[in-house]
Amino acid sequence: MARVNEHYLKLNAGYLFPEIGRRVRAFTAANPSAKVIRLGIGDVTRPLPPAVLSAFHDAVSELGDEKTFMGYGPEQGYDFLIDTLIEKAYAPLGVLLSRAEIFISDGSKCDTANILDIFALDNKVAIGDPVYPVYNDTNVMIGRSGPADERGYYQGIVYLPCTEANGFFPDVPKEKVDIVYLCSPNNPTGTVATNAQLKGWVDYALANDAVIFFDAAYEAFITEPGVPRSIYEIEGAKRCAVEFRSFSKTAGFTGVRCALTVVPEEVTANTPAGERVALNRLWNRRQTTKFNGVSYPVQRAAAAVYSDEGWRQTKAIIGYYMENAKIIREGLAGAGLTVHGGVNAPYIWLKTPGGIPSWDFFDRLLTECNVVGTPGSGFGPSGEGFFRLSAFGNRDDVVEAVERIRRNLR
Ligand code: MLT
Repeated sequence: MARVNEHYLKLNAGYLFPEIGRRVRAFTAANPSAKVIRLGIGDVTRPLPPAVLSAFHDAVSELGDEKTFMGYGPEQGYDFLIDTLIEKAYAPLGVLLSRAEIFISDGSKCDTANILDIFALDNKVAIGDPVYPVYNDTNVMIGRSGPADERGYYQGIVYLPCTEANGFFPDVPKEKVDIVYLCSPNNPTGTVATNAQLKGWVDYALANDAVIFFDAAYEAFITEPGVPRSIYEIEGAKRCAVEFRSFSKTAGFTGVRCALTVVPEEVTANTPAGERVALNRLWNRRQTTKFNGVSYPVQRAAAAVYSDEGWRQTKAIIGYYMENAKIIREGLAGAGLTVHGGVNAPYIWLKTPGGIPSWDFFDRLLTECNVVGTPGSGFGPSGEGFFRLSAFGNRDDVVEAVERIRRNLR
């Protein structure tokens, strides 16, 4: 008799973004003339930078010629992309990585989930609250938790509140955990961790023999000087942290798919017998067994992001989104809302007016303003009373959405 993975049955509802999509489709079916503006899921709207597109085209053409055709590539990624990342993305931060430490993949969402394969189930995992839902749900799916309680907290997972009081960055816990997820710039709150905050976590990890999963998918959106872009800028992090980065938001690759995961050779964890094993070796084993790499044209396109021209064009697009963020932040603050984020991240995290529940505010914005956002409670119980707006829309839509919300709040 075939049996299902019963841990999936513990998950409360559908994944957050499809659930929002379902509600929006129901609304537009009932109101076909409504001009709905979507600032919910953080999906990019600007086309690929021209230099990236051109490299993409050229690489596709190579596959059409017998002399340059190629089949399987290395599961870990092509050296031309890995070398580009070592030199252009990490060396300027003073972070020195070897080729073997970077793994190219098709997304950080998958990597933050797949990395769980190489860890024992009885590790104690800590996640922020609110948090990118993938961290929570994939731990439930793999069987690391009991059922959820009435507030939505799963038994066995340690939740670290991220509130206005701590600047939406989790404090190190009093108890010992083995794995912690940190995300900076943060999705969903749009805030960033300081050097001192990251140092606190690196010290904690080293003292407690814990591993940090550092999700830096939005690092390219940092605008203020002095904000760490990589956890490896913190001394000691190469001994305790795995870092995830992505081309999705940085360069418009949400549909193209390319990301990277850094697993330093020094990061180790214990076997039941107490021997130390390098995570790099296990991740390499996992990837070479379960993954056949990212397609050659996609990796050529990704490398072109870091060419002089590509980077100039990419930065201009990031600037466009960050101007959107400013318009949302200032427009809504001017209308009397409390807003966070939007300075070093493309997300604005606002307090719902009068503290109304997040999903009620979602319905109000959808039905009265025809604007879609993401309810804060969808990211965890501590997100209740908050709401996330994405800055990835078209400028005209963003301006119009802010105007509609301002009118509604009057
Ligand atoms: C989000 O809106 O939080 C992101 O688009 C989700 C993702 O990157 O998977």
